[in-house]
Amino acid sequence: MSGPGEAREIADGFLTRAARGRAAGGQRRIGLLIIASPMGLMRSAFLAGSQSRWLRERAVRYRFVHRAVSRFMPGEDLDGALVAAKGLKAKGIGSVLTYLGENLKDLREAEQVTRHYLDVLKRAGDAALDAEISVKLTQLGLDLGPAACETALLTLLESAAASRTWVWVDMESSAYTDATLDIYRRARARFANVGVCVQAYLRRTEQDLKTLIPLGGGLRLVKGAYREPPEKAYPSKRDVDANYFSLATRLLGRDARQAGVRAIFGTHDPVLIGRIERAGQEANLRPQDLEFQMLYGIRRDEQARLTAAGHRIRVLISYGDAWFPWYMRRLAERPANVLFVVRNLFAD
Ligand code: FDA
Repeated sequence: MSGPGEAREIADGFLTRAARGRAAGGQRRIGLLIIASPMGLMRSAFLAGSQSRWLRERAVRYRFVHRAVSRFMPGEDLDGALVAAKGLKAKGIGSVLTYLGENLKDLREAEQVTRHYLDVLKRAGDAALDAEISVKLTQLGLDLGPAACETALLTLLESAAASRTWVWVDMESSAYTDATLDIYRRARARFANVGVCVQAYLRRTEQDLKTLIPLGGGLRLVKGAYREPPEKAYPSKRDVDANYFSLATRLLGRDARQAGVRAIFGTHDPVLIGRIERAGQEANLRPQDLEFQMLYGIRRDEQARLTAAGHRIRVLISYGDAWFPWYMRRLAERPANVLFVVRNLFAD
């Protein structure tokens, strides 16, 4: 199914439903974060859309949406992701594989995800790819309680350790921050090859780093991609960027290095990347001491430049058919990406 008529139909349907939710004072209220500008409004609308089952059920039926998504995803299955990882390796870029999905409500489905990741580790190891994995705890069953989810993570860590690779724990919305960090801390006490993502938009992250840095392990700093209220997250981009740099300097600092932290700067922001490179030079770090991660399909020019500059770089490759909420978060990050959706609307 494709065509401008259908696109208008889903957009109108979603906006009407969102307005109805607002009028009823319902939970679908748009605009908890950054609504002071048109861009902020777009961001809030996409983040609201990422949680809309109504929109998801319709959008995934359209071919033009699949075509637009493919810009950020080499394929909907593992084979495509492994081919992409091989291509990146040839360019001196490592990869992090992530199988899309979140908030699973059935333990059997979560167990299937664990089995899938075990297969990923085996196939990536057999193919000698420089690949790590990144998992969402709600995809391993966190909504069903921490115990099964933690067991699944430990199973993956054991297998990854045998393959000499790493497991990253994604950070989801703030409803999960405490549970995610608790599980990470326990996993870190048993395994060296584990890291967790921390979000610069959260006000609490500065405090969290005080207890996470002494643990060593991996810390991947990102800006944050969910809809959060202003009491939890900095509402303005300027404040998020300032906090990102302040937290980055903590991760580059002596305490973090002495604790053996593997610091990752997960951003495509050229200004922040430049500031981090300069901070690294001022701290007498070698280029290979700085590690950046980016998302597949975004800022390939910068990925090549960082590789040529001698920094370590990995690209996070997402795949799987549960791409809808994840793709809406990518649109929220850069509403200009809607142009790609529109362009695909008119493609064959
Ligand atoms: P910013 O959004 O300011 O963008 C800077 C520039 O990068 C833009 O001007 C544009 O050129 C480019 N750019 C950024 N996003 C783009 C897009 N979608 N399309 C095209 N160009 C784009 N978040 C989270 O909450 N939990 C997590 O676990 C993770 N994990 C994660 C891992 C890795 C490796 C990365 C790179 C990112 C995440 N994120 C994440 C997402 C993160 O929070 C954030 O939303 C995005 O990285 C976008 O923010 P930037 O730092 O790139 O800056």
